[in-house]
Amino acid sequence: MSVQPEDLFRNIVSHCKEYGFIYPSSEIYDGLSAVYDYGPYGVELKNNIKDYWWQAMVRMHENIVGIDAAIFMHPRTWKASGHVDAFNDPLVDNKDSKKRYRADQLIEEAIEKIQAKVDKEVDKAAKRFGDQFDEAMFRQTNPRVLEYQQKADETEQRLATCMSANDMEGLGRLIADLDIADPVSGSRNWTEVRQFNLMFSTQMGNIAGEEGKLYLRPETAQGIFVNFLNVQKTTRQKIPFGIAQIGKAFRNEIVARQFIFRMREFEQMEMQFFVRPGTEMDFYRYWKEQRMQWHLALGTPPGKLRFKDHDNLAHYANAAVDIQFEFPFGFRELEGIHSRTDFDLSSHQELSGRKLQYFDPELNENYIPYVVETSIGCDRMFLAMMSHAYTEETVPDAEGQDAIRTVLKLPPPLAPVKCAILPLVKNKEDLTAKARGIFDQLKAHFPCQYDEKDAIGRRYRRQDAIGTPYCVTVDFQTLDDGTVTLRDRDTLRQDRLPVAEVENRVKSLTNMALLLGRAG
Ligand code: GAP
Repeated sequence: MSVQPEDLFRNIVSHCKEYGFIYPSSEIYDGLSAVYDYGPYGVELKNNIKDYWWQAMVRMHENIVGIDAAIFMHPRTWKASGHVDAFNDPLVDNKDSKKRYRADQLIEEAIEKIQAKVDKEVDKAAKRFGDQFDEAMFRQTNPRVLEYQQKADETEQRLATCMSANDMEGLGRLIADLDIADPVSGSRNWTEVRQFNLMFSTQMGNIAGEEGKLYLRPETAQGIFVNFLNVQKTTRQKIPFGIAQIGKAFRNEIVARQFIFRMREFEQMEMQFFVRPGTEMDFYRYWKEQRMQWHLALGTPPGKLRFKDHDNLAHYANAAVDIQFEFPFGFRELEGIHSRTDFDLSSHQELSGRKLQYFDPELNENYIPYVVETSIGCDRMFLAMMSHAYTEETVPDAEGQDAIRTVLKLPPPLAPVKCAILPLVKNKEDLTAKARGIFDQLKAHFPCQYDEKDAIGRRYRRQDAIGTPYCVTVDFQTLDDGTVTLRDRDTLRQDRLPVAEVENRVKSLTNMALLLGRAG
């Protein structure tokens, strides 16, 4: 059954709430904007995503090690990294609606609208000319398409120029020239565009004033940079080597929306790979491919993932690409791969006065390494997995009528519960005792659930809705011959097998090694 993208997104959000994956933070006080809590199944899925990333990075690479740095860091860290001066978004307020927007996003949306007009003309012509339609020729020659396309390209170019030059007045002019209205009120009564720093700050208890001002880290990467020599010396790693970390990051996003896509408190999985200067582009290409392979190993269709080079490079990068995923609201950034040069280590060396150089025994020289970074938001990955896994299927119910089956087709190694153990009926003592026994035997090996409430069909549906890949059903034949049925969530096939084989069968089908083997 195909669901419209807007409905799909709405359904995913309510499914996450209804089935204990994600709740709005402090909901009894009406929630806190762009902050969310993970429920019992959400935390399991999120932990499995983190585990898959950690194992693919740290366990599968001899030259990558992990750390867990503190969220608070010395405030000069953020001066050196450039975040105090340059971690800004252009902010504009509408004076009538009092709503706050990111100027660049308003302009991007205006460009998307112009681009939609091009697509509409092309669709219309394709319908009119049928099989005879030559789309490339039409795009090159149709005067209306050319006019729209030129406007979209010029606007994009002006936006890129303003963003790289931090030209706030230029952005204000673009908003006026494009005649952009507030999406809420329709008003064009805008303030000037100004820079807004995205870091949250707080105060250290025992130091008053500016000296005691601390920031909640806006990226985990800096904890890795400042520990670079500690890690290299204590693990005796030789370049090239990497340091991986998973942890919370905080950003005071101006416009935070689309559920867990853009949050104010979120989690990052980052890896900094330290390389010899001059070799960084080779490793940049290597990590670009490796990271794409990690996503594809999950069974995500290749058409749902794509690379997008950055038009504007961040202050620290000499090359950058995003891996975008097709969310229900379109292709958006899921992960970033950046070649960060020696910007961070050099800045920290300069501001701290401590040498952050590596002695390369092969070259017999000291240098500051270059860095290639892979950075993915754990919550965004969670949303990508949910978007891909959430499926509504039409299946016959017990009376043979069409019914909707909502199923999360998560890769089995990531599923929150691997196996449910279900006695066919609940009021037969010998069946329930047998099923409980199997549950007690399996629960130490992988996350299991025992469920005897409601008819068996309803219990299957409950497990489908949380993505449980296998259900073991204990029936009357079990009591005779010691066999059970194993139901597959996706194919709905039921195999009969001896109880003694269940543990190994489910283990082998849900093992993380399956993904790691494909991830390259
Ligand atoms: N250290 C580099 C860095 O932080 P970034 O592109 O700003 O780069 C990396 O962030 C990843 O973190 C993004 O690709 C995205 O998955 C995630 N991310 C960034 N901001 C986020 C937010 N407000 N909410 C959720 N995830 C976010």
